Amino acid sequence: MTDQSPSAGIESVLKENRVFPPQDPATAGTPEWLISSMDAYREQHQYSIQDPDGYWSEVASELHWFTPWNKVLEWNAPDAKWFVGGTTNICYNCVDRQVDSGHGDDTAIIWEGEPVVAGEPEIRHLSYLDLQREVSRFAGALRSLGVRKGDVVTIYMGMVPELAIACLACARIGAPHSVIFGGFSSKAIVDRVCDAKSKVIVTCDGAWRRGKVVPLKDNVDEACAELATTPDAVETVVTLKRCANDIAWSSDRDRWWHDLVAEQPDEVPCEHMDAEDMLFLLYTSGSTGKPKGIVHTTGGYMVYTYLTSKYVFNLIPDLNKPARSQGPNGQVFWCTADVGWVTGHSYIIYGLLPNRVPTLMYEGAPNFPQEDRFWDIVERHKVTQFYTAPTAIRAFMKWGDEHPKAHDLSSLQVLGSVGEPINPEAWMWYRDTIGGGRCPIVDTWWQTETGGHMLTPLPGATPAKPGSCTLPFFGIDAAIVDELGVEQPLGTGGLLAIRKPWPSMLRGIHGDRERYIDTYWSKFEVDGQTPAGCPSPYYFPGDGALHDNDGYFWILGRVDDVINVSGHRLGTMEVESALVSHPTVVEAAVVGMPHDIKGTGIAAFVTLGSNQEPTDELRQALRSHVADEIGAIAKPDQIRFTAALPKTRSGKIMRRLLRSIAAGETELNQDTTTLEDYTVVATLQKDEG
Ligand code: WTA
Repeated sequence: MTDQSPSAGIESVLKENRVFPPQDPATAGTPEWLISSMDAYREQHQYSIQDPDGYWSEVASELHWFTPWNKVLEWNAPDAKWFVGGTTNICYNCVDRQVDSGHGDDTAIIWEGEPVVAGEPEIRHLSYLDLQREVSRFAGALRSLGVRKGDVVTIYMGMVPELAIACLACARIGAPHSVIFGGFSSKAIVDRVCDAKSKVIVTCDGAWRRGKVVPLKDNVDEACAELATTPDAVETVVTLKRCANDIAWSSDRDRWWHDLVAEQPDEVPCEHMDAEDMLFLLYTSGSTGKPKGIVHTTGGYMVYTYLTSKYVFNLIPDLNKPARSQGPNGQVFWCTADVGWVTGHSYIIYGLLPNRVPTLMYEGAPNFPQEDRFWDIVERHKVTQFYTAPTAIRAFMKWGDEHPKAHDLSSLQVLGSVGEPINPEAWMWYRDTIGGGRCPIVDTWWQTETGGHMLTPLPGATPAKPGSCTLPFFGIDAAIVDELGVEQPLGTGGLLAIRKPWPSMLRGIHGDRERYIDTYWSKFEVDGQTPAGCPSPYYFPGDGALHDNDGYFWILGRVDDVINVSGHRLGTMEVESALVSHPTVVEAAVVGMPHDIKGTGIAAFVTLGSNQEPTDELRQALRSHVADEIGAIAKPDQIRFTAALPKTRSGKIMRRLLRSIAAGETELNQDTTTLEDYTVVATLQKDEG
């Protein structure tokens, strides 16, 4: 195990012994639980593990295929092919299939904008028919720009319906998309556009965030300027008008969304995609400074996100009649993530739409115009499933109970959590204050790489324990093992491993086979089972975890140099290279530190060049510099200037020691015998920036 051993968390986790059995469906306000007992869960799980071919064939048959597969799985570790020989289109399954089966007028997307004018926000309802028309037109628009099957389209937009439309349009014509979170900087665009060799960017003039306009198009222009003289120059930028803010315009490169779609037909057919054709690239942080483009393909991702959405959130489509209105029992699903993260890909768009339950998109901040905005939305749209992150829950707790209490939240049926371990206190608050003690909580553990939920309760079956993501989903063989892949006894911690392939697993890191194998398929030396060309037969997610005496999983956190800030992954190296790129900085080390709201905050230890004064102004300048280089989420919470960093005699930065210092632990009960210069530690403890 690396020096970030999660063993410290084991004690506290084992002290949590509350168990909450599932509620009656009537208590939660739902007509039924699709999986309604632990026996039903166990039976289906066992079937899925013993006969994956049979199991996944049945699930896949619930969706539309142009041609059926001839083999469910071909597994040559670390390469999986699912539904071999099958052709399908995920956009067809999200949209056209609903229209063809007579549900064209049902609501597909409910959207609420951030600005509130005269007490009313802007609201849009898009039916499956509307979506079919809008997606077709934009698909036609992309084709008119020369985008062909296999060309990567970059999407950098705010949370508007057109973001989902752009993704679906790409899927419709077989052009993989690479969505970049709108909070990232122009530099993030440059890196990702180059890596993906993407020639077209889709953006908005601006995005509303907390009453202000985020200048998305300006950021794209900056990126384009930087790329202009390189072989990766961007050819076309399509801009959706949203905020009507001033933007620069290049007649060679720029096109308005509305001009392009005006010339397109209402129906553009779906490409027949091979099950293993790439659906999207999504960049995520790793242990090095360079984000990796996670590759997801079509068939397996479609089947798995469809199934996890259905069972984890208990989605029941035919409650949605009559069309275009939410009847008293009609479900409305709301995932509060941005489409720029995998949670938005899988649980706003691709897993949700095939289940024919309306998916709600909200454009803006949770505290605009007031701290009750989310509860206002839940009440207005009668949201039934609400899926958010622990960091948001902790912020709501801080803002005060009066905000949720001022609203009728009785429509809620299921509450979800994702992105980081949820502390039991936040879990209990979520259950009592938001769910009124009536709604099950599904704490879903998964990753960009896994595509969909891996460890999760099923709301009508799994007795919940606050802070545990409980048990594996169907088809998932998860275990706690040591570095030799040996399963650890119940009640102990170790490394989380996934021992069998699953349909929505990543298929690689774009353009970097070696990094794919090194990162995910090299950790466990499983005796006698190592496949040729792949050191480990088990997938290594990078998390430390524990299973308790009931076999429940408790995630303890990352065991690599990745930190989870507000539920978003950041590589400490990325932040370090951003700091070092500032002219005053010679060396920087970044570690995570406990943070009330964010879960993990960012602490930076910085050594300045000679003649540089360690002032507060410089501290602020460095924080802004990191925000410019990466994005606001990467701003260090704490910057400590130091004449030197604590290093071992062989020159390695002692990160574990820095973590203790950042956490404010005065008694350093760490082994410092290899430390080069102990006075460094004493000075570091004194400077609290
Ligand atoms: C962490 C987000 C504990 C974990 C979907 C994982 C969690 C990383 C949970 C992936 C959870 C996610 N409990 N930890 N329920 N969900 N994580 O790729 O460390 O942005 O490896 O995917 O978040 O983050 P990513």
